[in-house]
Amino acid sequence: MPPSLGHTQRCVRAAVPLLALTVLLLVGLLHVDIRTLAPLLRGQAEGPPVTNIMFLKTHKTASSTVLNVLFRFAETHNLSVALPAGARFHLGYPWLFLARYVEGAERDGSWRRFNIMCSHLRFNPAEVQKVMPQDTFYFSIIRNPISQLEASFVYYRGFVPAFRAAESLDAFLAAPHAYRNRSRDLRNAYAKNNMWFDLGFDHNAPAGDGYVRARLAEVERRFQLVLIAEHFDESMVLLRHRLRWRLDDVVSFRLNARSPRSVTGLTPEGRERAKRWCALDWRLYQHFNRTFWARAHAELGARRLRSEVARLRARRRELAGLCLQDGAPKSGTQVADRRLSPYQSGDADILGYDLRPGLDNQTLRMCQRLVMPELQYTARLYALQFPEKPPKAIPFLPA
Ligand SMILES: *[C@@H]1O[C@H](CO)[C@@H](O)[C@H](O)[C@H]1NC(C)=O
Ligand SMILES: *[C@@H]1O[C@H](CO)[C@@H](O)[C@H](O)[C@H]1NC(C)=O
Ligand SMILES: *[C@@H]1O[C@H](CO)[C@@H](O)[C@H](O)[C@H]1NC(C)=O
Ligand SMILES: *[C@@H]1O[C@H](CO)[C@@H](O)[C@H](O)[C@H]1NC(C)=O
Repeated sequence: MPPSLGHTQRCVRAAVPLLALTVLLLVGLLHVDIRTLAPLLRGQAEGPPVTNIMFLKTHKTASSTVLNVLFRFAETHNLSVALPAGARFHLGYPWLFLARYVEGAERDGSWRRFNIMCSHLRFNPAEVQKVMPQDTFYFSIIRNPISQLEASFVYYRGFVPAFRAAESLDAFLAAPHAYRNRSRDLRNAYAKNNMWFDLGFDHNAPAGDGYVRARLAEVERRFQLVLIAEHFDESMVLLRHRLRWRLDDVVSFRLNARSPRSVTGLTPEGRERAKRWCALDWRLYQHFNRTFWARAHAELGARRLRSEVARLRARRRELAGLCLQDGAPKSGTQVADRRLSPYQSGDADILGYDLRPGLDNQTLRMCQRLVMPELQYTARLYALQFPEKPPKAIPFLPA
């Protein structure tokens, strides 16, 4: 062996602990969660795909599209899903989640564990842990609180007492206390800091700095990833990377979205008021919008992130061409196949999809899964998982 090679090996051997030390120092300096760096240190996309997953499904944040991704993965991999018990379509929302809200969770006095949990619930970690395995990957998605509130207002107009009497969201925000009775009921959770509420926190708390920081740190501890709805494709790329899934697993069409004509917008003054009214959500969004980009760049790098987003979009276009009639969504009320038409709520015109006629059976099944709305998909998985129970009835569909 030439001496120079031996020397090189010694140098390399000496460099390894040094490198490890440097990384650890950097981790300390940057306050980066070690879990964030773990995939990087392990080498990318190593190991089997992650199959134990809890998704905190927040409201009006593109979360129905994420739910579709998770339901599809569960169905095609025969994974168990923590589904709402009985006739329900959510896990006890707006009450704090309890393990017994999950169908079949209690068995002979102990708790059964599931692979996937992603239906609407108000987060309550101790109860979630009863029915989810120890190594569960936790993630959620948030959206700019101004747009989130605007979407809530349109979607829950008839349901939320605080919104009902207000002529517009601008009018509501000009005098929210006149419309909202704090003592009244939990349905008003949609009217203020709704994402904060979904995380299990007090959405009426004053946005004091110490309080907010403590809660944000708690979210950081409990969730390995918080996605950003405004950057949905980048979010799905990062999610796929963390879960070690295939590209097709995370390709999706937008579900439960409104047609542009039912998006109302706000005056500039209303936007400023919304930020102050939802100050807790605003802090939440600012924080995770920042850390999202830091993580995406640290784990993937800007170039790889861009190229993966381009791949995701190209595949989505391809699947849209294959599956969708006219390659685009249409007003949900015009979807010809009622089994694929989305639930309509409030003043929102929720979009849906018709499939191209003449698809072969296998393609048809894949395409159906891609466009299946939340209620129908929940009922479908429920029937597969609990064939002995009465099926869930979808309110607007004949049995
Ligand atoms: C799916 O999982 C269930 C229970 O986990 C099992 O009984 C069943 O045999 C599985 N089916 C397939 C096709 O793997
Ligand atoms: C608020 O709700 C409580 C309980 O429903 C009721 O007693 C009270 O009169 C309400 N206040 C206003 C200002 O509407
Ligand atoms: C979120 O982060 C992006 C990238 O840094 C930035 O361009 C955008 O303005 C941020 N959004 C808000 C509402 O702060
Ligand atoms: C496709 O599905 C239909 C209805 O479920 C069935 O009648 C037909 O035999 C299937 N075709 C093939 C090629 O499997």
